[in-house]
Amino acid sequence: MGSLPDHVAIIMDGNGRWAAERGLKRTAGHRAGARSLRNIIEECVRLQIPYLTVFAFSTENWRRPRDEVDNLMALMAEFSRSEAEELRNAGVRVIPVGCTEALSPVAREGIETLSRMTFDGDGLVLLLAVNYGGRADLARAARRVAEGCLRGEIDPADIDESCLRRYLHSYPYPDPDLIIRTGGERRLSNFYLYQAAYAELYACDVYWPDFGPEDLGVALRAYQARSRRFGGSADSSREGR
Ligand code: FPP
Repeated sequence: MGSLPDHVAIIMDGNGRWAAERGLKRTAGHRAGARSLRNIIEECVRLQIPYLTVFAFSTENWRRPRDEVDNLMALMAEFSRSEAEELRNAGVRVIPVGCTEALSPVAREGIETLSRMTFDGDGLVLLLAVNYGGRADLARAARRVAEGCLRGEIDPADIDESCLRRYLHSYPYPDPDLIIRTGGERRLSNFYLYQAAYAELYACDVYWPDFGPEDLGVALRAYQARSRRFGGSADSSREGR
């Protein structure tokens, strides 16, 4: 068996269907999803996985009905408040990934406070992808590189893959080794487009609120059984590490 991934990223999908199957509102599904998130964070801490990204709100999720968006914002604020102490005690450091400026003030403040409170965590780094989109991430990086060129700080001839990486939201953290998508779909949905280049993809049909430590274990074992070549022929060195 290979080693555990350093960086696990999760597209948490299926909250709405989980709720519908129980005759509940979608918001109840998101609430159950928040509980699931807490359990998975705990499990990653236990397994000493260094980095975990969770895709909590995409740049496309604004298209959802207003009351669902409001509910998700409120849930993020509540989660940030209710989990802060426990995350801090567990040594988790929370890093928001995405354009948090556009979140509702209460969600933004909650997440920023959580990030400040956990600043000196030396265990799991939890990258919270909120208002995140892979294309928006790349467009923002390109804009920042262009600004650097205009200021004379970057020579256009020096712009390469590693230069671009430094301007992504996820910098300086390593690319995910494993991307898990729950809820049965098999697509990236605009998540970590640059960062996913060599990630192992794992999809399962379990809805996110039902996804527990055992399901994570199944995904991790599937990852460990894979052979990663990074475009080379054997265990070539990993980009961006
Ligand atoms: C996708 O399920 C899930 C989301 C858009 C939101 C993810 C949010 C959580 C897991 C809540 C907890 C997060 C935080 C940070 C508190 P879906 O609604 O698209 O499900 P469906 O595909 O079945 O409709």
